[in-house]
This record gives sequence, structure tokens and C-alpha cells, in this order.
Amino acid sequence: DLGCFTHDPGFVATASCTSKITYIDGDNGILLYRGYPIEQLAEHCEFTEVAYLLMHGELPNERELLDFDLEISDRAIIHESLRKFFDGFHYDAHPMAMLVGVVGSLSAFYHSEMNIKDPVQRLRAATRMIGKMPTIAAASYRHSVGRPFVYPRMDLNYCENFLNMMFSRSSQNYIDQDHYIDQDFVKALNLLFILHADHEQNASTSTVRLAASTGANPYACVAAGIAALWGPAHGGANEAVLNMLAEIGSVDNVPKYIAKAKDSEDPFRLMGFGHRVYKNFDPRATIIRKTCHEVLSKTQTNDPLFELALAVEEHALKDEYFIEKKLYPNVDFYSGIIYKALGIPVDMFTVMFAIARTSGWVAHWLEMMEEASTPISRPRQLYVGPAQRDLAAIKNR
Ligand code: SDX
Repeated sequence: DLGCFTHDPGFVATASCTSKITYIDGDNGILLYRGYPIEQLAEHCEFTEVAYLLMHGELPNERELLDFDLEISDRAIIHESLRKFFDGFHYDAHPMAMLVGVVGSLSAFYHSEMNIKDPVQRLRAATRMIGKMPTIAAASYRHSVGRPFVYPRMDLNYCENFLNMMFSRSSQNYIDQDHYIDQDFVKALNLLFILHADHEQNASTSTVRLAASTGANPYACVAAGIAALWGPAHGGANEAVLNMLAEIGSVDNVPKYIAKAKDSEDPFRLMGFGHRVYKNFDPRATIIRKTCHEVLSKTQTNDPLFELALAVEEHALKDEYFIEKKLYPNVDFYSGIIYKALGIPVDMFTVMFAIARTSGWVAHWLEMMEEASTPISRPRQLYVGPAQRDLAAIKNR
């Protein structure tokens, strides 16, 4: 019911699609998942509760959540021949390159089992995708550092499992004694996954919806979404923030780089600042900023990068240009810093975003499939090329 949420009737006319999943009010910094404020979900829910909400439209009761968590754990393991897929990647392949390739290949493993016209099979495929993403993501990391693959475990929750698959030092997958997992890190990861779960028609979700509108299977659609997310203007921004901080190098250089970001002739942008929709604050950044400072104080890391990040934040928030243009830190500014403090390598940051956003992507895929009559999205264009002309033979060109 757009009327209740859209102040500007012109907006309705220009909206590219309708959806019941996520609502954003960019001017007032409001983000709702299926009507629930992100602040409440972030404070009270497990990530899998939120994934269930996005997919089903309602929060699960205890029994529903238990069944959902069990199904996710059960689906987390990947086929042994899919594990061998990683052997084909050079050790220094970017984890996002491995993710987009391996997720796309799930179509070869499960496509025959899935009739997208059957709602039960669609839900099973969507849940399977949420279950397997952390396993494939962690396997990408383990391959890149030459460590043995660690299998998912039924006795760990979603975030604990991911951290164990990433950092467990032994390859004794089911009797791993050293699975000490810091619960503060698990709490921070749970929050990051909730905040990144969905965000209306962002570039990667729109890509998934476009692919879904052709009737493509969810694994192919999610692989398309991963490809779109990789760009530094979108999901690659968290990795770009850390690379930017490394380039700035020291607190003394911050004013120079703030000036570069303001120079319209200079292509340099302050990564992690600004947003297509939020023209005030990104509510996710407000939530995540507190966690960022908590994780930094807990890890007591003396990495100068964190002091530098806080200096960039302080300078930009006080700068007239950024205030006038309403360029505030977005979710990616803080998420990169937290991931680094959690020991996640920089080239895995966008992979982290993909793990979380998989729940939004599959929710939108389900929504598109439910509207069986959804016509294929086929954007039109404003042609600005040459007028019609006749061909000259090559010897006359
Ligand atoms: C995500 O769509 C989503 O929902 C995405 C996302 C999600 O959850 O899926 O929220 C995740 O992608 C967050 C954004 C991550 N990207 C970055 O942090 C990269 C840095 N940000 C910029 O690239 C930029 O802010 C964009 C691309 C995010 C938005 O660009 P817009 O739409 O051009 O921003 P704007 O219209 O508000 O810009 C107003 C002015 C412009 O200058 P003028 O044309 O007025 O002279 O501010 C400038 C922009 O050039 N500007 C910046 C800037 N962002 C905008 N100047 C310096 N540094 C920046 N970061």
C-alpha cells in the first residue's frame, strides 16, 4: 500500500517496481524490514530470525526458528565435488571471484531438483542458499591462505559456524578442540549480518530481480547479485574504505584527502561516505558506529588504521562541504573497520556483505517467483547515438 509510505505521488509514478520486503525513507533515515524498524531487529534478533522474516514476511516463533536453524545447518555442507572446484583457482584468486564462480555452479548441482513453480521447492532452494553461503565464503578464504577446508558443524549457530570455518586452526572438522570463539565477535557479526541483510532496490538486489524476472534459478540469480555487489561504489566500498585508509597513511594527511574528496576535478571519493538514498544519516551507520567503537576498545588493537579511521570520521563530520552535501558515513565505513578488528582479511570484506545480503536476495527472488505473472524486466533507453546512416564499403572508409 504505497499510499501509506509515499509522501511524493511523483515517486509512485517513477518507482521501478513494488515490493513488500524493505522500506527506506532516505530523508528521515528510516529502514524497515517487513515493517519492523532496523533498530529493533538489530537489538533483539538473531540473524537467522531476520532472514526468516525477509523470506516469509513474518518473524518465526520458537519452533519455526528452531526448524529453520536446523535446516540451515543441515544445508550448510557442500558437495565434495564442489569443494574440489576450489582447486581450480590459483591461490591468490580474489575471494569474490571464487564466490561468484562457485555459487553460480550450484545451478549444476541442484537445478534438476528444483521446479521453481513449486513453492515448497523454492523455499528449500532459498534456505539452501542461505545455508551454503558462509561455507563457500569460508572455503574461499581457506583456499586463498592454503589452509585445510573446515566443515560446518551442527552444534554451532550461524555466526559461530562461520568464524569456526574461517579461523579454526585444525582440520579435524567435527572434533575440533580449538574452536574457541569470542562471543563478543559473534555478537558483532550477528549485528553486521542483520544490518546488511536487505536494502530495497540496491544495485545487487535489482540485478537479482532482473535475473529472476527471466525465470532463472536462484543460484544463477544470486551469482549475478554477487557480481554486481563487487563494485567499489556498492558492496566493494567496505574493502575500498580500508584501501583508502592505507593510502591516506597518517592522521596528518587527512585534511589533504578531505580536500581531494571535495575537489570535483579530482576523481577521489571518500569511501564509506554518501549514499544514493540516505540524504541524511544511514540508520545502519548510527547503529554500527557504537559497535565499532566497542569492538575497537575490546580488541585493544593498536593498529594505527583505527585511529586514522576515527580521524577521517571526525574531520568529515565537521566539514562544511560534507555537511552541505549531506554526506555522512554509511554502513560500509564502519563495517570494514569492524571486520578488520575481527581479523577478517580486507579482500574478504565484500564476501561478508554477500553472506548477509544473500537473505535479502533470496527473499526478493521468492517475491518475484510468487508473482508468477511477473513480466520480464526489460528497461527501455533514451537513444543518444548517431541517426540512421548507410554503410560505406571498407575500401572507402
Ligand atoms: C552501499 O543502494 C544501496 O542501498 C547500497 C547500500 C546497500 O545496502 O545495498 O546501501 C550499500 O552501496 C552504500 C554506498 C557505498 N559506497 C561508497 O561508500 C562509495 C563512496 N560513495 C560515493 O561513491 C557516493 O556517495 C554514492 C555512489 C554512494 C552515491 O553517489 P551520489 O548518488 O552521486 O551521491 P549524491 O547525489 O548524494 O552526491 C552529491 C554530491 C555530488 O557532487 P556534486 O555533483 O553535487 O558536485 O556529493 C558528491 C557527489 O559527487 N559525493 C561525494 C561522495 N559521495 C557523493 N564527494 C566525495 N566523497 C563521497 N563519498
